[in-house]
Amino acid sequence: MKFIIDDADIAKIKDIYNTFAVDGVTTNPSILAKSGRQPYEVLTEIREFIGPDAELHVQVIAPDAEGMVRDGHRIVEVLGKNTYVKVPTTKEGLRAMKLLHAEGIRVTATAIYTRMQAFLAAKAGADYAAPYVNRIDNLGGDGVKTAQDIHDIFRKNGLDCQVLAASFKNSQQVQELCEYGIGAATISPDVIEALIKNDSVAMAVEAFVKDFEGLCGKGVTMETSK
Ligand code: E4P
Repeated sequence: MKFIIDDADIAKIKDIYNTFAVDGVTTNPSILAKSGRQPYEVLTEIREFIGPDAELHVQVIAPDAEGMVRDGHRIVEVLGKNTYVKVPTTKEGLRAMKLLHAEGIRVTATAIYTRMQAFLAAKAGADYAAPYVNRIDNLGGDGVKTAQDIHDIFRKNGLDCQVLAASFKNSQQVQELCEYGIGAATISPDVIEALIKNDSVAMAVEAFVKDFEGLCGKGVTMETSK
C-alpha cells in the first residue's frame, strides 16, 4: 500500500517526510485554502521538496469537462508529469477523465462515495479512484468495506486502476485497508502520527533505558558504555 500525505502545510509535510517512508502528497481545494497561500506557490514548494519522482495529486476546479481538462493541462505543465490530476467523479468529471487519459495525463478520480462511481472512473481511464472512507462512515455507510469492494471490483473486472483511499479519521480505518492490500492510502499528518503513538511502547522503551542506566549510569548509551 502506498503511503501518501493528505496536506499542503509544508512544515508538516517536511516533518512527516523526514521520519516516515512516504510516496507522495495529495491536496484538495479545501486543503489548499487552509494553507492561506496561492495554489501554485504552495504546490511548487511541495513539488520542489518531494522531488520530481514522487506523486503529487492536485484537483481541478472548473465545473465542465473542457475546463477540467484545461485545469489539468496547467497543473501538469507547472508541476511535472508525476502529478496526478484529481477529477471529481461526476458526469462532467468522467468525460474529463476520458479526455485526460487519452492524452496520457495521469488521473485520480476523487469524491467517490459509491462502488459504481469507482467502476465508471476506472473504465474512463483513471489511474486511481479515491473513496472517502470517513465521509462514507459519517453517512451511515461502511467506508472501509466500500474501499475493499472497489479494490475487488477492479481486480475482478481486469481494470487497471488502484484504490487511493482517502478521508481517514483513525488508525483502525487505515489498518484494515492496509491488511486488505489496497493500492494506496492518503492520510493527514495527525492520523499518520497516531499510527505510531502508543503509551505502552513508550513505557517499554523508558523501562529499558532505566534498567540500562541503573547498570551503566545516567546518559550512558551503547556508544559510550564499557
Ligand atoms: C483526498 O485528498 C480527499 O480530498 C481527502 O482525503 C478528504 O478528506 P476529508 O474528508 O478529511 O476532508
